[in-house]
Amino acid sequence: MDLQDKYGRDFKTLRVSLLSTCNLGCVYCTMGTEEEITTDRKPQTPAAVFLRHIRKLHEQLDLKTIRFTGGEPLLYRELPEVIAGVRAMGIEDIKMTSNAFLLDRLAPALKDAGLQYINVSLDAMDSDSFFAMTRRKQLQRTLKGIETALACGLDIKLNAVMMKGKNDDQVLPLLEYAFKHNIRIRFLEVMAMGHLFGHANDYKLSQDEILDIIATRYSFNRLERKTSSTANYWQTDEGHVFGIIANDTEPFCMDCNRLRLDAEGNIYGCLSTNKAIALSGDETDAQLQQKLQMAMAQKQDMQFTGSEMSMLHIGG
Ligand code: 5AD
Repeated sequence: MDLQDKYGRDFKTLRVSLLSTCNLGCVYCTMGTEEEITTDRKPQTPAAVFLRHIRKLHEQLDLKTIRFTGGEPLLYRELPEVIAGVRAMGIEDIKMTSNAFLLDRLAPALKDAGLQYINVSLDAMDSDSFFAMTRRKQLQRTLKGIETALACGLDIKLNAVMMKGKNDDQVLPLLEYAFKHNIRIRFLEVMAMGHLFGHANDYKLSQDEILDIIATRYSFNRLERKTSSTANYWQTDEGHVFGIIANDTEPFCMDCNRLRLDAEGNIYGCLSTNKAIALSGDETDAQLQQKLQMAMAQKQDMQFTGSEMSMLHIGG
């Protein structure tokens, strides 16, 4: 199906939230209640159900990229099966967003199944700051996960959500870690999602403020932005590249090509909307096309306007 809106946007990337539980309690994502961050045996959506939805969406959209998110996708028990299933469909790029907490153990099997790229959330290099951001004392384990995945040949990027008064002193340590291990890092302006809806400005460290901190140690030049990239990139005089996902300062809605699927089988065309479009899996082609048109109509014209839904449910 040829689905394009008036800005020429289409759906080429599908983000699949495999479950809504996480083993960290990051302050921008959850209130830290036990209910939110329990990892016990809640029922999970079977891989076969995800694969059926993905196959039907791929038939319509000719997807180029799949990204698995959550909650925390490493807690999804059939992760290798779902990755292998997507690889068998011939989708080119298979990616995941993860906190890396369990990655040390799982990286080899995921690589074998066909996973290529992982965005790891890492918001601090100091163990007290890590605890303040995630409510868990797991910095060393996270770093071990990252380094094991690199050794397996997985392509890693780091995502660091920056919050004023919480981890703004971590910009330079994170940058140094990334440069030392030759990993691409992106700093994120905090987004008004979940419990931060309406309050994100209290914590926002803006793109300019992040650049000011980096400029105390490095000289850099801006690189050209690639189509449908979420990040702006800069290169230091030493040749290291870093990025900023400036959802507020420089919104990237205009060429957004992402469609989202959650663990209940709902699709969403935009993070700014809470309006779930439910898939039954039994739609005719025409019915599915109509639902995709509805999802496309959800895309914002210019700017993310916030959402009461947390990333815990819909992923990054
Ligand atoms: N603002 C910015 N980034 C967020 N993430 C989760 N919640 C927010 C938020 N409110 C990030 C995580 C991870 C990805 C899933 O999204 O840190 O990198």
